[in-house]
Amino acid sequence: MTLKVFHNARIYTPQGGSSPLKGAQQGNVLEIPQGAIISRGGVIERVGPEEELLAEAKNMRVDQYVDLGGRCVIPGLVDPHTHMCFAARREEEFAKRLDGVPYLEILRSGGGILSSVRSVRSASDQDLYQTTMANVASAMRHGTTTVEIKSGYGLDASSELRMLSVIDRVRRDAPLDVMATFMGAHAIPEEFRGQPEGFVDLLCHEMIPQAAEQGIARFCDVFCEEGVFSVEQSRRILACARSNGFELKIHADEVHDLGGAGLAAELGTLSAEHLLAASDEGLAKMAEAGVIAVLLPATAYSLKKPYARARKMIELGVPVALATDCNPGSCFCESMQFVFGLAVMKMGLSVSEALVGCTLNAAHAIGMGHLVGSLEEGKLADLVVLDGKTPATLAYHAGVNSAVAVYKRGERVA
Ligand code: NIG
Ligand code: FE
Repeated sequence: MTLKVFHNARIYTPQGGSSPLKGAQQGNVLEIPQGAIISRGGVIERVGPEEELLAEAKNMRVDQYVDLGGRCVIPGLVDPHTHMCFAARREEEFAKRLDGVPYLEILRSGGGILSSVRSVRSASDQDLYQTTMANVASAMRHGTTTVEIKSGYGLDASSELRMLSVIDRVRRDAPLDVMATFMGAHAIPEEFRGQPEGFVDLLCHEMIPQAAEQGIARFCDVFCEEGVFSVEQSRRILACARSNGFELKIHADEVHDLGGAGLAAELGTLSAEHLLAASDEGLAKMAEAGVIAVLLPATAYSLKKPYARARKMIELGVPVALATDCNPGSCFCESMQFVFGLAVMKMGLSVSEALVGCTLNAAHAIGMGHLVGSLEEGKLADLVVLDGKTPATLAYHAGVNSAVAVYKRGERVA
């Protein structure tokens, strides 16, 4: 097993333990000004002051010393919410949105998600794979070392399973960790227009059981939104998913406050995502139930909507995680660095709170908090070396890629 000593580093890491950080703990970040990390077989064996660790390393058979040049080192970024498995971009739709056509209006008239469904259904597996791999590779160059990817542009049993197979192939081939989510409940497909209950029946009787049997996706997600799935339909879909062994996620209160946050609390989902329009009452229920808020500020940016009320969530004790939402429609962005910048500049998070949101809390939002999200003994040696002295550089040096080097399980991947 390869033994590596990363040294001459300014280390910034959330200090976690086994649960997501919330409230006053949301920004619990340890700084080691002159630090080192010893990694054995890709797993962190020691983290601490350089002087101490270099002395210890003298008694070890070290394969490689890596001098990080005094730069800032943070845990590999974790992106817990993406739709980056798609076949075609929707740039013309973006132009329409800039002209003032609302996002949900485009969906209602058969575009938006439904346009991605048409392109995925007609794409070859190889094309779908290549587009997804290209998105994943770009995310990795920007420091992402663990990513969640949803299905949801198939919307029939075979196309959804095909998407999940492609995501699984990406998981095997890409050096980063990929978690898959079944999102057959992403929109009502054209063949069920006007009969949403018929599609919910199909989801519950066929698609969810088949996705469970396929065994690739760990999570099931639903788009609870006006004109998409109501709270009652979402409840039915998620209850069925749970009984088929899935862990639950929900796109909640993204455009309208339907009560998605309250439903997340009622069902005890692992996370609720978006929450741009969530009510105080819904957020308080989430806090009580321990549901993680996954906030997607790059989507608010792209939809020109007010940002989610992250400060209110932290005040209420809701753990806040951050993600890109990378998709061809509401937000085409695979950079967690951009998300970090928006969180600090537009949502009022401190640098430490945003760092926890992009790493440890994001890891917990996809059931990976025991393995990634902080530089602590026993976790994977996933590191991002930044062109700067502190993680603040991610907001300060705007619009550029600040990742100088990216390591996954101790191996350089970008
Ligand atoms: O999270 N809200 C639903 N799903 C995505 C958008 C998907 C798309 O527009 O293709 C989102 O915003
Ligand atoms: Fe999404």
